[in-house]
Amino acid sequence: MPDHATATAKVAVFVSGTGTNMAALLYASRLPGSPYEIALVAANDPAAPALALARAEGVPTFALAHAGMAREDHDAAMERAARDAGAQYIVLAGYMRILTPGFVGRWEGRMLNIHPSLLPAYPGLDTHARAIAAGDSYGGTSVHLVTEELDAGEILGQIAIAIQPGDTPAALAARVRLAEHQLYPRVLADYVSRWNDPQHLLARVRTLALALPRTQERESHGAPGFRVGTEKSGKFFAHFSDRHHGAPHVSLLVKCAGLDELETLVVAQPHAYHKPAYYGASGWIGVILNRADLDWDDVAHWLRRSWQQVAPKSIAGLLDAADAS
Ligand code: GRF
Repeated sequence: MPDHATATAKVAVFVSGTGTNMAALLYASRLPGSPYEIALVAANDPAAPALALARAEGVPTFALAHAGMAREDHDAAMERAARDAGAQYIVLAGYMRILTPGFVGRWEGRMLNIHPSLLPAYPGLDTHARAIAAGDSYGGTSVHLVTEELDAGEILGQIAIAIQPGDTPAALAARVRLAEHQLYPRVLADYVSRWNDPQHLLARVRTLALALPRTQERESHGAPGFRVGTEKSGKFFAHFSDRHHGAPHVSLLVKCAGLDELETLVVAQPHAYHKPAYYGASGWIGVILNRADLDWDDVAHWLRRSWQQVAPKSIAGLLDAADAS
């Protein structure tokens, strides 16, 4: 995992055919400042034109025909090739295989696909013909996270493409490809950068903090904060800190047991914790959020602990009640 702002994420692209999307991803990755690089192009068809293109461009390739192999074994070999190449993400670009649940599960949140429709409309095949036959005004393309259910994971980005009078599926498909070549590199670049994007980090913290009982968001010294209790007399249990006073990290300030715990954690795990300016002295620890290996369960745990420490006695039981329900 990249653990500082300049690291590029390593991506394995899985293809079955022409690989125009793979090429778009590859060339975009060669622009200065790309947050990802293509570490491997892998195919289930050794004759896929995408492989020849990747080889010509100096990208490592892997090919294994799936015919006669059990699905698990073929998936395992593809996965091994991706891991051996150091891939942190797998990007499907016209990979015409249904993946086994085990494989999908191991790459949850780290496997993307592009699909030629405006999902959730038209999952599966023949999307252009189906959109034209239905008289739709727009076709489109979607990039989404891969989950067990086909074409149903979280949608990360879409472009709508107008259907023209007299359009054929082939003509529409060609325009959809043009849009895909814009969409996929942008969405992938944004996605692999999320771990370091303060807006994304704040959105996740907000969801966790406001899921706790009797909480509100309230600004404090110009930064987002979260309080427990009534609007009037609530108390802060968390502050979101975005590179405050030149600190390199985006962090969540929460109450810990005291200075002993704070100093111990900061010394033992300096990549995960820091002592924040001003707040540190009164027992607030900085949980560093902008690191690629962050465990969001830990963040949720810290928020609960801090909530429990700060919540007035009269409502402290609500958390246990919420757990029990
Ligand atoms: C694309 O239209 C993509 O949406 C779909 O398969 C096609 C792959 O095309 N999943 P290419 O091989 O990238 O040209």
